[in-house]
Amino acid sequence: MSSWIQRRRKDQYYRLAKVRGYRSRAAYKLLQTVRTYGIIKPGDIVVDLGCSPGGWLQVAREILGPQGLVLGVDVASVIPIEYPNVKILELDVHSPDIVERLLTETKGPVDTLLSDLAPSIIGSWEVDHARQVDLAETALQIAREVLKKRGCILIKLFQGPELKRFEAEARPLFDTSRLLKPKASRPESSEIYFLGLGFKLQWR
Ligand SMILES: C[S@@+](CC[C@H](N)C(=O)[O-])C[C@H]1O[C@@H](n2cnc3c(N)ncnc32)[C@H](O)[C@@H]1O
Repeated sequence: MSSWIQRRRKDQYYRLAKVRGYRSRAAYKLLQTVRTYGIIKPGDIVVDLGCSPGGWLQVAREILGPQGLVLGVDVASVIPIEYPNVKILELDVHSPDIVERLLTETKGPVDTLLSDLAPSIIGSWEVDHARQVDLAETALQIAREVLKKRGCILIKLFQGPELKRFEAEARPLFDTSRLLKPKASRPESSEIYFLGLGFKLQWR
């Protein structure tokens, strides 16, 4: 058996996700962040960029309950989640009409924008880091267009030199912000999340 499969079997979040029926172990990263910072509330409008296979969609729907909406976006197809207030767009976040496509579904501004977008890793650290930051910046640009005043964001990044540039762009837009690494994020992974609370700009 490969060491990767052995490691995965020992991983507590992988096992928990299987037992609880979550589609990804990543579900625990969002659960832990929501428990600490309350970034999703019942009835909210939530956008989840890079949502496949759907672990974050499941967590968001659990917190929303039957009201509100969670709208997922991914280039990959996602097996539907059978609740009327979970919608999925199969779309590249770089699509020129992404903002209009999102707003057509949400019918108004968004309380929380999540981005767990991640490129396919090619193994060259510089290239992977640059592509991750490009996805994070795209998510931030979308957030500027769709977020409600006082809304919040949670965006995945990789640690590295470009992180500072992203922070310099994002921090002034929020009342408070910080970088965080949920316990469920593997310690050996360079991923880190930017949390912004209290969006300062008025929507449209
Ligand atoms: C780490 S996975 C997300 C896992 C998800 N949060 C969950 O809990 O199931 C990252 C996703 O980003 C998506 N992605 C990467 N680049 C994208 C792009 N340009 N547009 C849309 N989705 C993209 C990938 O297809 C992948 O499904």
